[in-house]
Amino acid sequence: MRSKIAAGNWKMNKTYSEGMELVEALKNGPQAGGDDWVILGTPAIHLKDAVTATQDMPRMKVAAQNCHYEASGAFTGELSVSMLQSIGVQCVILGHSERRQYFKETDEVIAKKVKAVIDGGLTPIFCCGEPLHIREEGWHVRFVKGQLEKGIFGLSAEDFSKLVIAYEPIWAIGTGVTASTEQAQEMHGELRKLIADKYGAEMADATSILYGGSVKPSNAAALFSQPDVDGGLVGGASLKAETFIPIIEAMNDQA
Ligand code: PGA
Repeated sequence: MRSKIAAGNWKMNKTYSEGMELVEALKNGPQAGGDDWVILGTPAIHLKDAVTATQDMPRMKVAAQNCHYEASGAFTGELSVSMLQSIGVQCVILGHSERRQYFKETDEVIAKKVKAVIDGGLTPIFCCGEPLHIREEGWHVRFVKGQLEKGIFGLSAEDFSKLVIAYEPIWAIGTGVTASTEQAQEMHGELRKLIADKYGAEMADATSILYGGSVKPSNAAALFSQPDVDGGLVGGASLKAETFIPIIEAMNDQA
């Protein structure tokens, strides 16, 4: 089932009390309807209490921003899927370009994480997207195709049906520069074609593909109105209720 999703990625922002204030503000705001979701990608310190605070919010989920692929062991500083699962976290953002760039996560490591998250019964939000020079050179579709092939196309159809994809062109993340609606739709359409070629048209149609990269209240409606854009993964604008709520509303308006 293809859902519309407004997902916030708080990254390394917000003290405990600041984060919980934002959760409360969003609880009092508009909710997703039908099969759609609002997802809060919080830092680790907020996860448990964000889950508890949103327990009565049927269309809200909480996401971690990373996890390890091993079940347990000597991996200082890391969190396992079963740890996240044990506190009720439902999703994990994986393969974000900041994880790839600053923490040297490779496609192979990300693929292992995706599999571990699915095996643990959680939903991976798999991020992909090209750097600026590759877009300028004109092979962005081929680049992202490679990320999909290495990151998620090894999955069985059953496993694949459990994930969400986020297309986040790196040149648009945190820069204020957004992909145009045409650029977003072009890539999302290509992604859906690649999924159709690999897993069939029904799977392609059922997969939620989010756009990420400087989504804000002023551009969310236009981006989300594209036929293959199923919502957004939102960084900066998810940090304040005043800017995230209009984005949730823009998603709801498309439903
Ligand atoms: P941004 O971040 O909305 O601040 O560009 C998006 C993301 O990195 O997920």
